[in-house]
Amino acid sequence: MNGFGIIAACTKRARVIGQNGGIPWVLREDRDYFKRVTKDAALLMGRATWEESNIHLPHSRATIVMSRDASFRDSINKIPNVSTVSSFCEALDAANKLITSDTVAPDAVWVVGGEAVYERALTHSLARELHLTEIDLAAEEEEKIISAKRVARFPSEELWSEMYSKIDTVEGAKSGLDGLPTYNFNRYIANST
Ligand SMILES: NC(=O)c1ccc[n+]([C@@H]2O[C@H](COP(=O)([O-])OP(=O)(O)OC[C@H]3O[C@@H](n4cnc5c(N)ncnc54)[C@H](OP(=O)(O)O)[C@@H]3O)[C@@H](O)[C@H]2O)c1
Repeated sequence: MNGFGIIAACTKRARVIGQNGGIPWVLREDRDYFKRVTKDAALLMGRATWEESNIHLPHSRATIVMSRDASFRDSINKIPNVSTVSSFCEALDAANKLITSDTVAPDAVWVVGGEAVYERALTHSLARELHLTEIDLAAEEEEKIISAKRVARFPSEELWSEMYSKIDTVEGAKSGLDGLPTYNFNRYIANST
């Protein structure tokens, strides 16, 4: 494996990625960006992220879901193109097998959330790049999201900023237009690559 990439979208201030099991904004351009970057890839995700859609995303080749709950793993193991594992290391092993069998290309492994999975991935020696969409929601909108029962966040920059270098920032085509917030697409590479 040529390492793995990490892709996420979060709010600019509180770094929220999810609220009550879903994503608290609709940004079509970001959805399309995600699909473009992770096309034909193996997607590594936590159980809650899987539960958000409960389907293998057809633009990708494989979905590898992490859970420590054996009965959950058994319940989804027969879904085509989906496999389940009980740790991050096992997820990387499963991705490697897909590469060996030519199911995915060596540079097509992406970590797609959620919070604890991002935390594990960002500091891993095989992390290669990070694509982070930052969404500048109005402060009061962000406050409302944070007050929800279940809030998932992207790890604080304190954890990872010294390990990555930003290579570009591109403002979204619809940023600030049509009632949308401003948002931009940031790319970082791991300093170890
Ligand atoms: N904005 C974005 O880019 C983005 C991306 C992804 C998700 N999201 C949002 O984030 C939220 C979900 O994220 P989340 O942080 O709540 O949950 P999550 O990371 O998707 O899932 C958490 C669960 O995954 C399993 N897990 C995590 N790390 C593991 C490991 N190292 N080994 C084995 N199992 C592991 C555990 O499952 P068990 O409890 O079964 O053991 C854990 O409870 C949703 O709201 C979703 O919409 C947003």
